[in-house]
Amino acid sequence: MRLCTVTLLAAAVVGTTIPDGQTLTLNDIPYFLSGIPVSRFQYDLVDSPFPFSPSDGTGMVPLTVLSVNATTQLDSVLASFRHEDDVFQDAFLGAVYLASSHQGDNGLPMDDFMLTLQSVGMETLLAGPGVVAGPWVSANLTMGLSPGPYFVSQHTGQVFRAYRLYPDHNMAFVQATISDEKGGFMAFPAITENAMTKDVAVPSRLYSTPTREQPLAGLRVGVKDIFHIKGLRTSGGSRSYYFLYGRQNVTASSIQRLIDLGAVVVGKTGTVQFSTGDRPTADWVDFHCPFNPRGDGYQAPGGSSSGSGAAIASYEWLDLAVGSDTGGSVRFPAALQGVYGNRPSTGAISLDHVLPLSPLLDTAGMLARHSGLWARTVQSWYPNFERNYTSFPRQLLLADDGWDGAGMSPHAHHLLTRFADRLEGFLQVPRTLVNIQQRWRDTHASAPLELNHLLNETYAIITAVDQYNRLAKPLYADYASRYDGRRPFINPGPRYRWQWGQDRGGDAAYEVALRNMTIFREWWETLGFGRSDEASCSEALVVSMFSSGEVDYRDEYYESTVSPPFGWSTDYASVMAGAPEVVVPLGEIPYQSAITLHEEYLPVTAALQMARGCDHVLADLVAALGEKGILQSRLEAIVFLD
Ligand SMILES: *[C@@H]1O[C@H](CO)[C@@H](O)[C@H](O)[C@H]1NC(C)=O
Ligand SMILES: *[C@@H]1O[C@H](CO)[C@@H](O)[C@H](O)[C@H]1NC(C)=O
Ligand SMILES: *[C@@H]1O[C@H](CO)[C@@H](O)[C@H](O)[C@H]1NC(C)=O
Ligand SMILES: *[C@@H]1O[C@H](CO)[C@@H](O)[C@H](O)[C@H]1NC(C)=O
Ligand SMILES: *[C@@H]1O[C@H](CO)[C@@H](O)[C@H](O)[C@H]1NC(C)=O
Ligand SMILES: *[C@@H]1O[C@H](CO)[C@@H](O)[C@H](O)[C@H]1NC(C)=O
Repeated sequence: MRLCTVTLLAAAVVGTTIPDGQTLTLNDIPYFLSGIPVSRFQYDLVDSPFPFSPSDGTGMVPLTVLSVNATTQLDSVLASFRHEDDVFQDAFLGAVYLASSHQGDNGLPMDDFMLTLQSVGMETLLAGPGVVAGPWVSANLTMGLSPGPYFVSQHTGQVFRAYRLYPDHNMAFVQATISDEKGGFMAFPAITENAMTKDVAVPSRLYSTPTREQPLAGLRVGVKDIFHIKGLRTSGGSRSYYFLYGRQNVTASSIQRLIDLGAVVVGKTGTVQFSTGDRPTADWVDFHCPFNPRGDGYQAPGGSSSGSGAAIASYEWLDLAVGSDTGGSVRFPAALQGVYGNRPSTGAISLDHVLPLSPLLDTAGMLARHSGLWARTVQSWYPNFERNYTSFPRQLLLADDGWDGAGMSPHAHHLLTRFADRLEGFLQVPRTLVNIQQRWRDTHASAPLELNHLLNETYAIITAVDQYNRLAKPLYADYASRYDGRRPFINPGPRYRWQWGQDRGGDAAYEVALRNMTIFREWWETLGFGRSDEASCSEALVVSMFSSGEVDYRDEYYESTVSPPFGWSTDYASVMAGAPEVVVPLGEIPYQSAITLHEEYLPVTAALQMARGCDHVLADLVAALGEKGILQSRLEAIVFLD
């Protein structure tokens, strides 16, 4: 065992030092322990030396806490520790604390325990109350501890949680976070060696066990940096915002709900500034755009929840990432990075204390690599729209482009067709090809005759005007009053859109846009494809091609793309209808990279949509498709045309 101190952090304030924790390396694996102890061994320091084997100078001893009873098989417990947890390693077994789950439990097979522990290098055994006296040290903790790896201070007997440090090579995170040990989170204070990024610190998975009340216990989650979390700054992708407002005082209720369900927030992830439309790399003036790990590593990651997508696609050690989707901001990063990601029905969960685009359209979505985990998470996360139903939708509608293979590679078309075939088999209904614009022409009696005319500027007006009123105006005013009338820098995307919305009519145009959106929504739910159904919640499952593995290099120069999006596209149906839609990866297809001069792979994805309010049914369907192997729980490269 080798334990060496890399950095020792202590912020010196006049008269007071505040411990900020420290980083350590144990058998080449970097760890962090926070400055906040979670317990302390009660021990008389004056009369006896502290009963730990000497560490090599850090004063910190790795320790494993084990909870035992008369039937415990220690070797299988340790095997499951190694299997389940990336923080634990055998070097934590040099010192072991046995907590007996029964007071006065004299039936413990202590001889067996000793043999097992000695065979894995245990040198110091501490026994808690209830363990009979023996050749071990009796010790009490001031606070009970969950099983798992910890560090103990040799000098004070204080016990600290063990965090493992992982590098963020794809720059997915804006800041890392650790527990404040009071149920909240604080900024990760350590300095780590990296190119422009900080490590992310993840606590042992062994500290938490899922229960009925906490089904997400121990799941590590990254949160898009537009959701406020008490004790942390929010950037919204803006340096001005980050520095002007300082630490936030409240936690968004959607994030608080995740925390209450047991999830562990490990950091805030990068976002397109204020969730609008910055393209890499030119528009990303304030922060650098996170890196999409797919293909050659230099494809645009999609936005605006770019960092949430990059984090989930890049890092095995992360389970979930929260994004927001107003006009595609979760679904595009999910599609371009080959993971699951959704927008729920508007109103599925509160968006208070989240930087807004528009309350009419904003939603909080979830990104994950595994279909089952994605489904289970949104089921417990969204408090609204639980529905009883007796069957999945009885109509399978394949919407708009891609199904005939036009304009896409044969590999991509193959993946889409195979998915449609399998959906037919699973739902036991034949597919129907539909076109949303044609349906509008066929069924909408009065003008305008084209969806394009009704909705051309609707999204642009709603988001530009709402964000100007709710975010830009107060930001400009607060900044001006702090800095003698100055204006903050704003990236080209949001700056242009805010001004465009005002030039285009501001609040008056907003009223018209709202009316147009309502016209669409009412049509979609009656004559369109978003009808509800008593038995299946949603009459139809609407499936559309979402991404077909096209390249989108992040170093290409474009005409200015700062203007808001206009016109109709298929992915707007769920936005305007407030309906749930999830992007699912179908596989990867090859391309010849202009960067690596090598064959690389990019994901192909589809979107599944149901009627407004059918979020839980949609999640059940995705879980079922995952169980049947129709959806992959892990995106694999495809190298075939079978
Ligand atoms: C005894 O401990 C094992 C794990 O070591 C645990 O699975 C089991 O539930 C415990 N039994 C009781 C009665 O607490
Ligand atoms: C642990 O606590 C028990 C009960 O409070 C006490 O009797 C015992 O002396 C303590 N042991 C140590 C080592 O502090
Ligand atoms: C948090 O509360 C403090 C004290 O009331 C206040 O000065 C500060 O501006 C608040 N921060 C934010 C981001 O609201
Ligand atoms: C679903 O059905 C159960 C049993 O009939 C009922 O108790 C529950 O309220 C229903 N839930 C909803 C959301 O309709
Ligand atoms: C949509 O709106 C933009 C911006 O006002 C305009 O340039 C474009 O011509 C419009 N397109 C249609 C089809 O109305
Ligand atoms: C609303 O729809 C009308 C057509 O009915 C169209 O002329 C107008 O541009 C639309 N406005 C917005 C902001 O959506």
